[in-house]
Amino acid sequence: MPDMTGDPTHDPAAETPDESARLSAVPASGEGSAAPATDTPGHRLSAGLTIGSRVVVRYRLEEGSRARATDFIGELIARNDDFLIVDTKKERVKLIRADVIAAKDVPPPASRPGPAHERVSADDLEKLMAKGWVAIDTAGLGDWVLRSASGFTGRANSALVVGDPSLPVDRAIDYVERWYAERDAPPLFQVHGEPGFAVEDVPTGAALLERGYAAGGGRPDWARVLVMTGLSANVPPLTTESVPVTADATLSPEWLMTYGRSRSVVPGATEAVLTGSDGQLFLSVRDEATGQIIGIGRMAIHPGWAGIFGVWVDPEHRRRGIASTMVSAVAMVARENAMPAIYLQVSGDNAHGVAFWRGLGFGVHHEYTYLAQPSA
Ligand SMILES: CC(C)(COP(=O)(O)OP(=O)(O)OC[C@H]1O[C@@H](n2cnc3c(N)ncnc32)[C@H](O)[C@@H]1OP(=O)(O)O)[C@@H](O)C(=O)NCCC(=O)NCCS
Repeated sequence: MPDMTGDPTHDPAAETPDESARLSAVPASGEGSAAPATDTPGHRLSAGLTIGSRVVVRYRLEEGSRARATDFIGELIARNDDFLIVDTKKERVKLIRADVIAAKDVPPPASRPGPAHERVSADDLEKLMAKGWVAIDTAGLGDWVLRSASGFTGRANSALVVGDPSLPVDRAIDYVERWYAERDAPPLFQVHGEPGFAVEDVPTGAALLERGYAAGGGRPDWARVLVMTGLSANVPPLTTESVPVTADATLSPEWLMTYGRSRSVVPGATEAVLTGSDGQLFLSVRDEATGQIIGIGRMAIHPGWAGIFGVWVDPEHRRRGIASTMVSAVAMVARENAMPAIYLQVSGDNAHGVAFWRGLGFGVHHEYTYLAQPSA
């Protein structure tokens, strides 16, 4: 596997010598389906300076200042050829592009001590994960994010309840209900808390329960979703025994068809959501005998974080290490691209899935539930 960023912190000696040979990268153009492992993927794994990202900007100070430059860290609000606008905690600053020495996206801040996968707050991780699974139609309500994507997945069709909606909770809920009514869609709220949290202990959850909303809305897989995180360094490395994994920057029809075997899809919306992040890779494993794809997964790329979505293995090929190998491949790419932490979301009613992730060293960071009106 080539080094995609030239990350100087990467220590190839930390991997088994054969690890990179087990992962092929297909060029972003999609030309050719079986590029040798030495090919350069031809895409950027780190997306640069996207609006809404947390960024650090090194900025040249005026002549005569005590220092030559200073750093601004905050949310990128706007950008054009002439300036960047960054919302730091203290103020909103307008930075002249000509005086920007360097700028890059950075991971969410640490909200508590601990390793990279534990120290992020649940709110910040939720906001990050929303960028790994982007709806087609989105709107902000204060810190809340309203999302709609023709009904494809709860994640892309719910209001993400994080931080302050800028309105009293009841008025915020009214607003969300109207927003979904305008789209002919049922209102759905994603509410999170500590592992094992009670929905009524979250103010928005309590207000929704009072209106007759129910956790899970009748769907066991929506009642409780675990957000699990782990360190890319702790995932077992690929070995000479590992099945070959392909990582493709483009979504192929064959990958999509296989994905359709794992869950119901909405043509158009599914492709848009799967390819909607700033960066993503589509992983696949083929059956040596038939050449058919028998295992898939999607990796979302963020500053400092990788997200894993849609891991699925053909039932006839399970318990042979295929899914573990795909996760090892994700972790290898993550390590090589300065992403120490990995997240994923798994339904609490999927005991096998949860056992699988625990076995790979992932632990529960927080949990969420979808609140829906029973009629929906
Ligand atoms: C979960 C899933 C991806 C596992 O794929 P897989 O290729 O069979 O997994 P692996 O062979 O790499 O399993 C590695 C380990 O995970 C655990 N594991 C996997 N499947 C398990 C199951 N059904 N029950 C209990 N533990 C399981 C075991 O510890 C296993 O090691 P072992 O076989 O040596 O005991 C697969 O069952 C699947 O596609 N399920 C449906 C989709 C899904 O649930 N995806 C994951 C949730 S996001």
